[in-house]
Amino acid sequence: MNLKIVTLPGDGIGPEVLNQGVKVIRTIEKKYNHKIEVLEGIIGGIAIDKFGTPLPLETLEICKESDAILLGAVGGPKWDNLPGNLRPEKALLELRGGFNFFANIRPIKIFEPLTFSSTLKPEILKDADFVIIRELTGGLYFGKPKERRVENGEELAIDTMIYRTSEIERIAHIAFETAIQRRKKVTSVDKANILECSRLWREVVEKVSPKYPSVTLEHMYVDNCAMQIVRNPRQFDVILTENTFGDILSDEAAIITGSIGMLPSASLGEGKKGLYEPIHGSAPDIAGKNIANPLGTILSVAMMFRYSFNLKEEADDIEKAVSRIVSEGYFTQDLFQNNPNAKKLVSTEEMGNLICREIQGGAN
Ligand code: IPM
Ligand code: MN
Repeated sequence: MNLKIVTLPGDGIGPEVLNQGVKVIRTIEKKYNHKIEVLEGIIGGIAIDKFGTPLPLETLEICKESDAILLGAVGGPKWDNLPGNLRPEKALLELRGGFNFFANIRPIKIFEPLTFSSTLKPEILKDADFVIIRELTGGLYFGKPKERRVENGEELAIDTMIYRTSEIERIAHIAFETAIQRRKKVTSVDKANILECSRLWREVVEKVSPKYPSVTLEHMYVDNCAMQIVRNPRQFDVILTENTFGDILSDEAAIITGSIGMLPSASLGEGKKGLYEPIHGSAPDIAGKNIANPLGTILSVAMMFRYSFNLKEEADDIEKAVSRIVSEGYFTQDLFQNNPNAKKLVSTEEMGNLICREIQGGAN
């Protein structure tokens, strides 16, 4: 296949983890005889420093021409005090909104040897395997008005949570379709006891549900869900939720996998193009030290092959390589402590090389 990928390294640990993802792309390209063009765009804080804007037009243009986008991370303390529309994170929202990537898919999957790296008890985590389907272009992130002003001599700030029926419908379909391929259960998470948006959410999800008779639907309040994720994560198959709840719950769910460095994500729209990124942030405290965990990025590359390119074998190959390397006890520092399965502490680069070698060497 001829493919064009845009990489956006961004800030903090973004560039170093993304480099490992690119190595994996090159390894797959060779092994399976694809022709993959990899372009690089500037985004985030570094783009603010160079061009005065977090998402330069040139970056947006090459993204438009691409089949998929792979992002490292954006943000950092240096840019924390800028106004909202000039922050590094704004670039990410512009990409999500601009390309209408409304469906964010965040698989929470345990690699068994990593259970001891989690702060939760291994017996709670055993066999937990679910996916968070997060609505990504609505709710508080995008609702208007969104502003600050002075009223009666006092500063006030407004964010708006707003959802339209069509926005809820399309993400609900994604959740049910995902569940059909899995254990056929959707847990729709809301705050319908308080929020009007949640009451509409619940009604619309209920209306979509009969189109998928093989899938069981349940509703759960978000506060309860936050507790259930760490109390009994095995109960979940597909969690469907709105933007802000999904953001918060996915960081919480990362604890199940042992490290937030393990989590990939895919943001998809109507077409095949997608935005792929690890769910962790730019981790400025460990940036440039070659110690960050690149597996979230590498697993995001696997999702890219699966969802944007329809290349299942390649995606499986990457995921199996990760599984084998982790089983052999090669861990980055985020997973290494207190885990009897940890045999060798490896750097970001070493982890990338190990995965590539495994892909090259493995029959599949
Ligand atoms: C995420 C991140 C982003 C979000 C930030 C970086 C804008 O936390 O993808 O979870 O809040 O969506
Ligand atoms: Mn987040």
